[in-house]
Amino acid sequence: MPGDELEISKTAIWVAAARAIGAREPDPAARNPDRLVEQLLGDPSQLSLHHPVVDALGKSYEGAMQDIEVAGLVRAMTERTRFIDEALERAVSDGITQCLILGAGFDSHAYRFQQLLAHVRTYEVDRPQTSAFKRRRVDAALGGPPANLTYVVADLEREDLPHALVRHGYDLAQPTFVIMEGVSMYVREAPLRTTLRFLGAHAPGSSIVFDFATRAMIDGLKALDIEKIPPPARPPIERFLNMIRLEPWVFGIPLGSEMEFLRGLGLELRRILTIGSEESVRRYLTRADGTIVGAEAHARAEAMRGSMQQRLTATLEPAQREQAEAAMREQARQNTYQIAEAHVQEAAA
Ligand SMILES: C[S@@+](CC[C@H](N)C(=O)[O-])C[C@H]1O[C@@H](n2cnc3c(N)ncnc32)[C@H](O)[C@@H]1O
Repeated sequence: MPGDELEISKTAIWVAAARAIGAREPDPAARNPDRLVEQLLGDPSQLSLHHPVVDALGKSYEGAMQDIEVAGLVRAMTERTRFIDEALERAVSDGITQCLILGAGFDSHAYRFQQLLAHVRTYEVDRPQTSAFKRRRVDAALGGPPANLTYVVADLEREDLPHALVRHGYDLAQPTFVIMEGVSMYVREAPLRTTLRFLGAHAPGSSIVFDFATRAMIDGLKALDIEKIPPPARPPIERFLNMIRLEPWVFGIPLGSEMEFLRGLGLELRRILTIGSEESVRRYLTRADGTIVGAEAHARAEAMRGSMQQRLTATLEPAQREQAEAAMREQARQNTYQIAEAHVQEAAA
């Protein structure tokens, strides 16, 4: 079962490194606000992930952002962090008294927002190895956790999350803000539904932010035949597949059915944003001078995708080519990755 052979989550290192690079952006209008994650990660040579985004920690910001793979991930993480930070700040001003961070990895909200969360009881949940490593890094880099933070070791796939939390003083009756960042894709549908249903049973005024892949993306990953990918495009895909070998992507929501999915679990969709969409880029990646973070690498990535598609359809008859191109456009539309904020449904009067 996934989880047994796991050591420290490689995907947690992967996304944290991208946040660390995004935090080096000079313009605060387009910077990743996670100013602590680089300290939390510590010495990159000691991390158990070999990946361009980890290597990029040893480069200049400009140098790191030349790499298509690095720039793409940095951009996505900046959008994600800023969406979540905004939601957290709103939730605190709306009066939450409890914060729950599921699959915390190197999440830094409890430390970055120490003052804002001073009166908010905060819980970080993760699997044993990742949680233990995080605690060691928090001690070494920050001199220990804030007094209001509790670490809870639990596996969303197999443990009874409510009991694990309650043992540590968690109170379902408190208005709570839940962060489930970069986690839903790793949890099978049944336990994920159980987790979300538990969140939906929290006190009124509670809300959750979480990101998710589409079902089409998960199905596409399952069906992926690397031999059919033109060789120049293979290395990043192979790296990704290798990284998720022990942390497989298993869950996605069918595009367009997010509201219905959440409603069935006691949650009402409040905001939804497609990562990489025009709106998200304008809001989170655009500098004061109008230029966009990682724009040059992004343009190269798009050009590469275009020429790859051309190669795949070049030998087809015009009618077949048109059909294949339409199918690829539809696949691209379905292959989105989104972030959402939902709140606990009010009890019927
Ligand atoms: C991609 S990382 C995201 C980490 C962090 N939330 C962030 O965005 O930086 C996925 C995290 O989810 C955790 N995770 C995955 N499956 C889990 C499960 N079944 N139970 C608890 N944690 C899990 C991993 O250990 C890892 O820390």
